[in-house]
Amino acid sequence: PAAQIGVTGLAVMGRNLARNLARHGYTVAVHNRSQAKTDSLIADHGDEGTFVPSVTTEEFVASLERPRKVIIMVKAGAATDAVIEELVPLLDEGDIVIDAGNAHFPDTRRREAALREKGLHFVGSGVSGGEEGALNGPSIMPGGSRESYEVLGPILEDISAKVDGVPCCTYVGPDGAGHFVKMVHNGIEYADMQLIAEAYDLLKQGLGASAAEIADIFRTWNEGDLESFLIEITAEVLSQVDAETGSAFVDVVLDQAEQKGTGRWTVQNALDLGVPITGIAEATFARALSGSVPQREAARGTLPAHAGAFEVSDRDAFIEDVRLALYASKVVAYSQGFDQIAAASAENGWDIDRGAMARIWRGGCIIRARFLNRITEAYERDAELPLLLADEYFTGAVGNGVAAWRRVVAQAALAGIPTPAFASSLSYYDGVRAERLPAALIQAQRDFFGAHTYKRVDKPGTFHTEWSGDRAEHTA
Ligand code: 6PG
Repeated sequence: PAAQIGVTGLAVMGRNLARNLARHGYTVAVHNRSQAKTDSLIADHGDEGTFVPSVTTEEFVASLERPRKVIIMVKAGAATDAVIEELVPLLDEGDIVIDAGNAHFPDTRRREAALREKGLHFVGSGVSGGEEGALNGPSIMPGGSRESYEVLGPILEDISAKVDGVPCCTYVGPDGAGHFVKMVHNGIEYADMQLIAEAYDLLKQGLGASAAEIADIFRTWNEGDLESFLIEITAEVLSQVDAETGSAFVDVVLDQAEQKGTGRWTVQNALDLGVPITGIAEATFARALSGSVPQREAARGTLPAHAGAFEVSDRDAFIEDVRLALYASKVVAYSQGFDQIAAASAENGWDIDRGAMARIWRGGCIIRARFLNRITEAYERDAELPLLLADEYFTGAVGNGVAAWRRVVAQAALAGIPTPAFASSLSYYDGVRAERLPAALIQAQRDFFGAHTYKRVDKPGTFHTEWSGDRAEHTA
């Protein structure tokens, strides 16, 4: 039978997406560079639906009904370009090529433009949720032409996660918009993970609590506003006992965090746009610090701490403080991430609906969380909301925890415990709400040494003071 959709690249993500499609009743063409993976997919899961396996790319393309819909699920970068190059000469006008890997959005823009010129649709789609999501329902963030979404959207929505019956998939915007939004999702994922790690460290050092005890605290937190996939798996991880040593699993894992690069891209792009995503940046740099082995060796036992003991008098009150600080910092990370989406959307003419992004992140993806409903509601109240933190719900929810947040960051600083994401998020909060910032002094300094000019609070115009002369002010 002619296949309705095809998947090329059958490592675990591609394989699971193909199975998800087949389980939803689609006839799925499958192909992999080395045939063994195709064979094992058919041998292990052939009975889950209708697969049409092919050995060559030619056969694979020929097995698809038109307009062809081909999902590429290979390693981001050169491998993706190689597959596209092989596919394109075999395709016909109107066919749709979908890159469901973690591509960097400038690559997606380039590929979309190149394929559009050939009359083909190129859909760069974020897919989140890991192996499990790919199989049972991921969050899907497709970019590209609206026209292609009309054909493809119903299929993707069908296989995506559902929350209250609503698919975790929607059209994001033109060219690189889908992969851009996935990139910011990952940046937020980094921040979320770092904040959870800092909360864990505070509970561990402040309470002297065991991993198992902290797991219980996270389990309780998962019943409230913080309910999310990452909090849930944190409790699971902290409960795990290492079979070999009998210690808590987390205590035998080397404390050097790695990354594949999506968090770094998010920060690089934020610098280009000038959007202060400090929570995500600190989270990314915290991974880098953990991996700075020579520097840590040079500093360990050498740099004086002059820190006080971490004394917690009221255990429950401290746990609640940490919970509130975590929630507030998390809201900051999302608020910053959504600012970045707004800025990129404006710069690239993507017209991204931020409320819809929060909606499709409610299920399937790594950052899925109960509070994303609140974000969607905030953008429903005001689609042009300039700052998520300033939405009425969030001013209340975060405002509630500010005193606790300050106590936690201050106590950690006095005790010499690093909380880069908690602390920078609090600084952002105080910075963005400040009546007046010392940026005035920066402007004055810039004018002093470089005649870079400044504006005044009391009248319009641009000015320069003759610092090395008579110090008179001129209109610039
Ligand atoms: C997802 C994840 C996934 C990401 C991993 C690892 O949404 O399913 O974001 O796409 O690749 O989480 O990322 P790092 O290796 O950079 O931590």
